[in-house]
Amino acid sequence: MKMFRNLSIATVLGVFCSLPLLNACSNNSASNSTPTAPNNSGNNTAALTQTADTFKAAKGCKNVGLLLPETDTSTRWETYDRPLLQQEITKNLPGVQIQYANANNDADTQQNQAESMLTRGACILVVGSKDSQKASAIVQSAKNSGVPVIAYDRLIQDNDLAYYVSFDNVRVGELQGQYIIDQYRKGAYGLKRGSNIALLNGSQTDNNALQFRQGALNKLQPLFDSKELNKVFDQYTPNWDVTRAQSLTDGFLTQEKNNIQGIYAASDILSTGAIAALRNQNLNGKVLVTGQDANASNIQAILTGDQAMTIYKPLVQIAQATGKIVGALSNGADTKALTTASTKTSDGAEIASALSNPQVVDKSNIKQTVIADGFLKLEDVCRGLPSGAGGVCP
Ligand code: BGC
Repeated sequence: MKMFRNLSIATVLGVFCSLPLLNACSNNSASNSTPTAPNNSGNNTAALTQTADTFKAAKGCKNVGLLLPETDTSTRWETYDRPLLQQEITKNLPGVQIQYANANNDADTQQNQAESMLTRGACILVVGSKDSQKASAIVQSAKNSGVPVIAYDRLIQDNDLAYYVSFDNVRVGELQGQYIIDQYRKGAYGLKRGSNIALLNGSQTDNNALQFRQGALNKLQPLFDSKELNKVFDQYTPNWDVTRAQSLTDGFLTQEKNNIQGIYAASDILSTGAIAALRNQNLNGKVLVTGQDANASNIQAILTGDQAMTIYKPLVQIAQATGKIVGALSNGADTKALTTASTKTSDGAEIASALSNPQVVDKSNIKQTVIADGFLKLEDVCRGLPSGAGGVCP
């Protein structure tokens, strides 16, 4: 935690753009929003009809509860998701009152926050859940009050969930896994037949972490099976914690006597921990490390060569989709056109979903993606780096 806090203050706060970014993001994002459906089963009419009947409180609603999971696992939640959601919900529902709370990585806190918002009249809830299973209790409390829950970014495992808005998270893992395979085929990072790969997964209570791992293995498992690559480690990182990611990396480096060629790190905060451990062994830049979120400090790590790639998720797209659903629910309008996919819960219900596309970012396309989109500013990511860094900095 401490390391990330230092990073946030020293680097991230200085590097992230805030309000100008929101405008830049919302101006250019709608055009490339092409959702896909990982668990598509087509017909969600029944779910949609049920939505109107079950969630009576939503019609005419002007009091929206917004709950986000964490502050210390990624800069995204407070820096991007919160202001973007507030902006998009207000745009689609002028005059709305938004109650906001961050659970600071505690599922019980989040449950209490939701109950308290319902008590204070929230009639639509948008929930980025801390725990995909435990948040089922939030969906049930909300349902008792006729209030629909939109699961934001992370699926909630409850058949009464009204909507799910996210990225195609299996695809995220597939892009990360495929990146490792592409580098292996090129012989980069010393990758060759029999090279050792470690899987540093996210928090097991976050459904996304399960999907990221599943996607990565969709690509990598055939190579593990054929012994082209060798999986030496595969563990979840409780709470997406950076310190734990570093100590897990210390552990498998020691166990393998530093003979590691690739680290599948599910997110940028995990890669930050992994890189810190590699640096202590003078291995940073020599081992392929993946990531996700396009955090400014991790884009810097890509420019310096310590991290190979990240996944950019244009968060404005899911904020926009959420804002539109909230607006339609309040206006009693049909939401069918706003959800183009359907996602299965573990108990088999089909949840109407809006899913956006993730993108790979590495040295070769930083300018064309995160910079061109206004997600990050070149001057910010290049601050403190030598001129010409990564072939990108002026
Ligand atoms: C999100 C990632 C984020 C991670 C940790 C996941 O559910 O999809 O973007 O890095 O949580 O906050």
